[in-house]
Amino acid sequence: MRADLDRILVSAREIATRVAELGRQISADYAGSRQLLAVGILKGSTIFMADLVRAISIPVSFDFMAVASYGQSSSSSGVVRILKDLEQNIEGRDVLLIEDIVDTGLTLNYLLETLRTRNPASLRVCVLLDKPERRKVAVPIAYVGFKIPDEFVVGYGLDYAERYRNLPDVWVLNPEAYQNNSEVKIQSTSGKDHGYDH
Ligand code: PRP
Repeated sequence: MRADLDRILVSAREIATRVAELGRQISADYAGSRQLLAVGILKGSTIFMADLVRAISIPVSFDFMAVASYGQSSSSSGVVRILKDLEQNIEGRDVLLIEDIVDTGLTLNYLLETLRTRNPASLRVCVLLDKPERRKVAVPIAYVGFKIPDEFVVGYGLDYAERYRNLPDVWVLNPEAYQNNSEVKIQSTSGKDHGYDH
């Protein structure tokens, strides 16, 4: 497995420090809110969300959504399919969307447009990793853990072919691990249309 991994891009220690900072900032920004709802986008956000909510010192409840892109033609239009919707009514709630990574921005853009129609009191985004070079659509992001270059990253929730989500650090995947594999989508060279797209 190590042969697939090139180098650590963000260490577990750096992540822990930044997550604690984000938790403090979010707690201060939402002080007084009794309606804070953290919404994790499955599956990549799970590890980040688990740590982040424990760094938040005000009351917070959770919900989750799962989405998938429709494929090449519609992913360029930013349409995603909701595989699992929220269980809670978000009208009047302070909703904080939690993502592991924003890449093209298409997923978040769609989610924000969809959730806005449900009349939350507020709607903000917190992402661990931001790849600004890959953006196709501008999305407002209130909280960013780390800005990273356009490289295929795994670990701390992020996968390659469903592997490596459990690594404590964020690693850069060795390009040889995916270059000759036509079965999987390629994250940093062809985007969401063709592959793993963080
Ligand atoms: C990743 C990530 C975002 C999306 C970002 O999810 O969690 O949801 O891609 O890409 P975008 O900015 O180009 O839309 P993925 O589809 O890999 O699913 P996962 O969370 O289950 O790994």
